[in-house]
Amino acid sequence: MLVLLGIATLVVYALFRYYSMVSKYPRGPFPWPFIGNMLEHNIAQEHLAAEKYASKFDGIFTLHVPLPNVFLTDYETIREAFVEKGDDFAGRPENIVMQEIFTYTPNSGVLNSNGENWREQRRVALSILRDIGMGKNLMEEQVLSSVREYLACLDNIKDKGKVDLHWPIQLMVGNIINETLFGYRYKYDDCEVLIKYVEDFQKWIGELAKSPEIAVGMAAPSLLKIPFIRYHSLTKHRDNMLTIAQYVVDNVEKCLEGYKPEDEPSCFVHAYKQNAYLNHICSDENLISTCNDFFMAGQETTTTTMRWAVLYLAINQEAQEKLRREILTVVGKDRLPTMADKAKMIFAQATVLEVQRMANILSGNLAHRTTRDTVVKGHKIPNDTLVTGDIHYVLARDPNFVEPERFNPDRFLNDDGTALRKALVDRVCAFSLGKRICAGEGLARVELFLGLTATIQNYRILTREGEPIDLEPLPMKILQPKDQFIKIEKV
Ligand code: HEM
Repeated sequence: MLVLLGIATLVVYALFRYYSMVSKYPRGPFPWPFIGNMLEHNIAQEHLAAEKYASKFDGIFTLHVPLPNVFLTDYETIREAFVEKGDDFAGRPENIVMQEIFTYTPNSGVLNSNGENWREQRRVALSILRDIGMGKNLMEEQVLSSVREYLACLDNIKDKGKVDLHWPIQLMVGNIINETLFGYRYKYDDCEVLIKYVEDFQKWIGELAKSPEIAVGMAAPSLLKIPFIRYHSLTKHRDNMLTIAQYVVDNVEKCLEGYKPEDEPSCFVHAYKQNAYLNHICSDENLISTCNDFFMAGQETTTTTMRWAVLYLAINQEAQEKLRREILTVVGKDRLPTMADKAKMIFAQATVLEVQRMANILSGNLAHRTTRDTVVKGHKIPNDTLVTGDIHYVLARDPNFVEPERFNPDRFLNDDGTALRKALVDRVCAFSLGKRICAGEGLARVELFLGLTATIQNYRILTREGEPIDLEPLPMKILQPKDQFIKIEKV
């Protein structure tokens, strides 16, 4: 009897402790003791959580998966957190599992580091990219060279009636970031190494999406001492990450063989190494990790957006024709579009915005972490809490996007079609907001604008008869379209 009473008291105490912890976070769907909302959480389709709970909990709710993760699902709330209270939300998860799986070495590089190291790596990386012309001149030249090679590849395709543009796009985008970081490009008929990188990357993110056991290692790091749990929630994913990072290690090493400190830097690696003389935080480990972050983040995101662009334009012929008319009026056929044309190409700008909104390539967003106790929309959020500023939900459901499921670039034009509607444009927050906003935004915008307008200037994109386009994304953190065939016709 006494033993039973003792057990009952312990259970009640444990429940009391658990729900006292739960009460410190913004409300959300009922969490079961200790497993929280794990039973209903789909890690491969995190964005679906907001569909269920965003309006019920007025734009801010907590899922216990099983660690508390606060979701912010409307634009104003994300803005309040990431912009107005930017420092409070600028952390990334410090959890050993997240650090080992997503970073070359814990707390290094830009994407997943914290505190002083993150601030300094981000500052140095952005200043190097600015110096080598991110968003303008030199970078534009590199993008245009890659675009020319991509168009030549399309010209060489024999059967234009059955084309999958996945690889031509992937190589165009991959070559741009490869040249930026390491100073060289691949030829389309000699790029097995890059293809292998992309395949390994796919394997890594594919397995992450199928591994809810990662949450076990995150919630109870002491269980990582058990080899079976450690392998499934950490080691196998870390090994996959190190396989892709090896590409970057090899390239950094090769690049440094030809490095002379007195020469004008010809790529990111050389410029970073020059910084290292002045800045002790620019270690070789940080160099590899930063390049790894930029190569990962800079490749799959832009490629995936461009792949969606092709599919959306294939099924929206009216928008495609309108875009082509504008390109041919402003640029003509004798040269490629450049960034100098952009100001005169309002519909092209609107199309890129609508592509990014509809492509909506990240499920949720990357995880942030609070760096102190804070308050958003009147709700307290404790220090060291995981926070998802759910840009996916904003792009898909913000009430300012009328008929949000319809591909409609015109939504961004003012009444006489001569300018963009700034307030609506701001809500296309595909690069996120605030201190952790995408560090490659400048480059990505150039790639999307030049890549897309050059494609439509030169090719008509069509669906194949009897083969409707499948718009259901693959269930992963980066929501990629399935590989599928379309038809292209030279304009
Ligand atoms: C269409 C293309 C792209 C999209 C939609 C995109 C989107 C994003 C998003 C949503 C984040 C997370 C922001 C947050 O945590 O709140 C991010 C972070 C980042 N992106 Fe991009 N990105 C794109 C292209 C690129 C490119 C081309 C590069 C590199 C040249 C890049 C480098 C990074 C880096 C380094 C971070 C981490 C920033 C930090 O933690 O401080 N991205 N990106």
